[in-house]
Amino acid sequence: MSKRIDFLSDLVDKGCNLIIDVGSDHAQFAINVLSKRGAKHVINIEKNNGPLTSGITNLSNSELIDKTTNVLGDGFSNFKCDKLVDLVNVSGLGGKLICEIITNNNLAIKKYLLCPNNNEVAIREWAKLNNYHIEIETAVEENDIIYHVFLIDTHAPFDNYDEYEIEFGARQFFSENKLLRKKLEASLIHIKDKGLDKLNPQLHKYAERIMVYLNENK
Ligand SMILES: C[S@@+](CC[C@H](N)C(=O)[O-])C[C@H]1O[C@@H](n2cnc3c(N)ncnc32)[C@H](O)[C@@H]1O
Repeated sequence: MSKRIDFLSDLVDKGCNLIIDVGSDHAQFAINVLSKRGAKHVINIEKNNGPLTSGITNLSNSELIDKTTNVLGDGFSNFKCDKLVDLVNVSGLGGKLICEIITNNNLAIKKYLLCPNNNEVAIREWAKLNNYHIEIETAVEENDIIYHVFLIDTHAPFDNYDEYEIEFGARQFFSENKLLRKKLEASLIHIKDKGLDKLNPQLHKYAERIMVYLNENK
């Protein structure tokens, strides 16, 4: 069981009628939200046959298969659904790929739960572009890796982020979250320890911006 997926599941409202998990892999997210969050139905969309089959086996063993639809597909391409979707989860992929996947849909979606492996800026820029509200930005640590987690509400507008907040996250979330600070401090230490800021002017400026942001949000 993944601590990261447990953490994501705990952010899901109880009793959702319909959740979609894109890149569902072994279907752990579906199993969690059906069994612990009282979700009524989950659609798993998976690009590869191996993980899709593994997910179906896990759902059958958990006696939850009847509450799911399991689709072999590339994101939302060729996927249709005319019901209101309470939440779409996409986790464990790069931020840019996540944005590509969620941009290409014609569905009515209330919330997105996104956990990128990298490029969190892409997620904030996507929310800004679409004028969607970042309800929560937080983080979870698994196997010594800190992952950003975003809960995005499409029914409320994007807050007024400044450039630092687009790059590093809204101050209201950052200042009260030790893991978000730890992750940003670790990036700075990595750049400084390897002397990358001395080799690369862009990284020098990036390191300076990190220091400003860290100092401002103690
Ligand atoms: C690294 S795993 C992450 C699985 C799980 N979401 C998690 O957070 O642990 C990525 C999964 O997404 C699937 N995947 C990658 N791109 C996809 C796409 N465009 N559409 C559907 N599934 C995709 C892969 O086959 C793989 O099973």
